Amino acid sequence: MTRTILGIESSCDDTAAAVVRQDEDGTQILSSIVFGQTALHAAFGGVVPEIAARAHAEKVDHCVEQALLKANLTLSDCDAIAVTAGPGLIGGVLSGVMCAKGLAAATGLPLIGVNHLAGHALTPRLTDNVAFPYLMLLVSGGHCQFLIVHGNDHFERIGGTIDDAPGEAFDKTARLLGLPQPGGPAVEQAAESGDPKRFALPRPLLDRADCDMSFSGLKTALLRARDTVIGSNQTLTARDQADLAAGFQAAMTDVLRAKTARALQVYLTLSPAVPTLAVAGGVAANMPIRTALTDLCATQGIQFVAPPMALCTDNAAMIAFSGLHRLQSGDFDDMSLSARPRWPLDGTAPAMLGSGKKGAKA
Ligand code: KG4
Ligand code: ZN
Repeated sequence: MTRTILGIESSCDDTAAAVVRQDEDGTQILSSIVFGQTALHAAFGGVVPEIAARAHAEKVDHCVEQALLKANLTLSDCDAIAVTAGPGLIGGVLSGVMCAKGLAAATGLPLIGVNHLAGHALTPRLTDNVAFPYLMLLVSGGHCQFLIVHGNDHFERIGGTIDDAPGEAFDKTARLLGLPQPGGPAVEQAAESGDPKRFALPRPLLDRADCDMSFSGLKTALLRARDTVIGSNQTLTARDQADLAAGFQAAMTDVLRAKTARALQVYLTLSPAVPTLAVAGGVAANMPIRTALTDLCATQGIQFVAPPMALCTDNAAMIAFSGLHRLQSGDFDDMSLSARPRWPLDGTAPAMLGSGKKGAKA
């Protein structure tokens, strides 16, 4: 049986729409359109929720049109509409949910509200058909958590950040060092020529045996180290900048490697048939982190899956895909579907602290 589903995503700073089709041969992304908002927020050093919400509201229907056009389909060829209903910046989530409701009301198509984090967490099944249960490390500007993905609707959070997300920490580091945004790629590049040992930056929470992480102290340590250099030399040279970036990159890589090793220990007690670690989120683009995780998995005989970057970062194909199993089982939402700023994937895990600049960490 062929099922075609339209996906809509607007929870942060990307307006996205996609069409995904499933048939006997497998699952195919027929189109995936992303309108980014980086330029709109660039002057403010972070995502401004009101600007994001307005841009989503202006662009979301156009984005849907483009996705249908690219897939060479119309709404009448679709079997359902899946939309991110949270967690995220509420104005943005509302734009998507209202658009999806309007389309559902006009066409009579079923409506499916999807958790954005489930979208990320299920992506390795879309790209690599990974078997349950697998371990997922979500690392982006707004999220940082380890999830054991047991099933389409069953996520167990075994750890995460208690303050900043890694992408957020990369972005703040870039600002402190006078590097451009988004900070991740800029810090990674600056770090390549730096000495990671010149500044002794902390590896927070490594003394704790659990899988939780903290990055705000690392950022503060970097600020102090920078101010010490400026205090004694009245300037920050390119060498200082590179060494500070390298120190930060090394600390971040060490923490993620060590905490992933712990998360793997927890996951391996389930004796999965094909042990797998998957990553998602913008920080998964970082080469030193990727290499550290690849090596860690290789030494333990664990499969490492990193979806292509366009599917690691925010997109609507993952939202459409996450709605497919609900389409199969006829489990639909109605017009009472609401947008949720916070929506933990694992309702049994203790609540996470803080809320990043890119939305709820859930
Ligand atoms: O997943 P994403 O596109 O958006 C959400 O946060 O939802 O992630 C964006 C984050 C930004 O903070 C950016 O600095 C970071 O991912 N990032 C990186 C790299 N590329 C993007 N961080 C470290 N190294 C990179 N190469
Ligand atoms: Zn995301």
